[in-house]
Amino acid sequence: MQRRVIPPREGEKNLVDYEEVRKNFSFREGEKFFTWSRTGKANIIYEALEKHVAEGRGDSSALYYSDGQRRENYTFAQLAELARKFTGVLHSLDFRKGERLAIFLPRSPEWYVTFAGTVRAGGIVVPLFEAFMEEALYDRLADSGARILVTAPELLPRVPLERLPQLEHVIVTGEEGLPGTLSWQEEMAKAAPVAEVTWVDLEDPYLILYASGAEGVPRGIVHVHYGMVGHYLTAYWVHDLRPSDVYWCTADPGWITGIVYGFLAPWMHGVPVVIRGGRFRAEDWYRTLAEYRVSVWYSAPTAFRMMRQEEHLLAQYDLSSLRHILSVGEPLTQDVLDWCLEKLGLPVYDTWWMTETGMNIICQLPALPLKVGSIGKPLPGIECTVLDDEGREVGPNRIGHLAIKKGWPAMFRAVWNNEEKYREYFRFDPWFVSGDAAYYDEDGYFYFQGRVDGVINTSGERVGPAEVEKKLVEHPAVKDAAVAGKPDPLRGEIVKAYVVLETGRELTAELMEELRNFVKTGLAAHAAPREFEAVGAVPRTADGSIDRKKLREWVLGLSKPD
Ligand code: PRX
Repeated sequence: MQRRVIPPREGEKNLVDYEEVRKNFSFREGEKFFTWSRTGKANIIYEALEKHVAEGRGDSSALYYSDGQRRENYTFAQLAELARKFTGVLHSLDFRKGERLAIFLPRSPEWYVTFAGTVRAGGIVVPLFEAFMEEALYDRLADSGARILVTAPELLPRVPLERLPQLEHVIVTGEEGLPGTLSWQEEMAKAAPVAEVTWVDLEDPYLILYASGAEGVPRGIVHVHYGMVGHYLTAYWVHDLRPSDVYWCTADPGWITGIVYGFLAPWMHGVPVVIRGGRFRAEDWYRTLAEYRVSVWYSAPTAFRMMRQEEHLLAQYDLSSLRHILSVGEPLTQDVLDWCLEKLGLPVYDTWWMTETGMNIICQLPALPLKVGSIGKPLPGIECTVLDDEGREVGPNRIGHLAIKKGWPAMFRAVWNNEEKYREYFRFDPWFVSGDAAYYDEDGYFYFQGRVDGVINTSGERVGPAEVEKKLVEHPAVKDAAVAGKPDPLRGEIVKAYVVLETGRELTAELMEELRNFVKTGLAAHAAPREFEAVGAVPRTADGSIDRKKLREWVLGLSKPD
């Protein structure tokens, strides 16, 4: 098939010859960029933050934060000092290496300080996305066994503290202390900074991030300090980062992108990051790009489309500082690419990866011809393939399971408390099976073809259908429910629910609103179905589980509910 191709970018770029670097590349070569390769003392936060202070770059900018009310800038030295204080807070609570601390905060400087202070103390952070409600919070807090929770006064009421006996301390930001909790500000004010970093084994975990699968509760994806090798190199090759850049990754730190590329990887390169708090508004985003003179911008197709809806604002802002734009999380459609080319004068480079992979895996690269519609090629050091249902490689131009040969540096090392789930990903050892369908062409470019398993991707956010179904059937009007992702021109997919109602109930506009709110307030806003349809029965396979293939046919209009 003839595809549109955009030629490689001219001029300076970090990765100049993909084929040459790819030949015999081993990630071990990346270890030399880290102080631990000389000192033997490792901690990912040391490499992201404190190293810059130790090496005389402490006065460089690290974080430009703004939201409707606050506007704060921090240097590496200032952030390192705050992180040391937060470590002091943790020491006063007798928090030890390997223990879990959950962060349930809106985007704010406190988020990043808490993360850094915890990880440099050898702790494991469990980020909780700001939109989570009681059930979603309970599942994650209970499974992770977090002993400390850092949250905000407006979010605290959603946390079912009475059901979480292992949670010993709740630290709340904001000036006012709340009964039974500690005040973040007060604890920080009285804490003695702890200068020593807790050195760890490179295989020790620092992060558990919950990711939804098709069935059951979300899995705690465990990441270890060694992942930094992958973060550093991908930020160099794919994001093309240089010390003179200002980098803005728009993802929330409740998700992997907002952590790895939101701050860890750029900081390892000494590059300042922009963090914009508050809700999305196209105008704020245009202003943010212009005001901070963002040069490298990492965002997602739904966001680009929302910006396009208000493109009349473009003329008011000088975006000439932009030199590299990347996308992640959902299919990068051609209309988005064309819009960026036309209005911003730059192509968008797609990047494919997952919470489980911990780093970019298959990417469009400035040095390669950009085949429109492809997600790009596997990065140096990474081998990808496509497998059939029996785990056999199928060769080019055949759709199957997208798989990665195990052993890349930021690969997840476990599913918390669930060895069996971890092994399932590697059922075709040595391949990690992603859950995505894909094919590759004769030139080795990969093409994403949707999920295999019914996991929904709405506005780039991963929603497990089973979690939504479980919530819906708790409602007294719903006897049974099945949800699927329905293609949507703005959000990629929306959550559509097929419901079997109790006798005598009717799917009125009021009931739909009530069900939507029920999921929104019980689970999470982004997981709430935008569309409902009443059906006589939910399709099931012989073993009684929901027939996701059939559901897919329904949402695509290929077949109809009986
Ligand atoms: O289906 C793929 C989709 O997002 C899933 C991973 O979601 P999550 O773990 O939340 O991580 C999001 C970003 C790292 C994948 O299984 N996905 C990711 N990147 C792309 C994508 N779909 C299409 N194109 C992409 N570039």
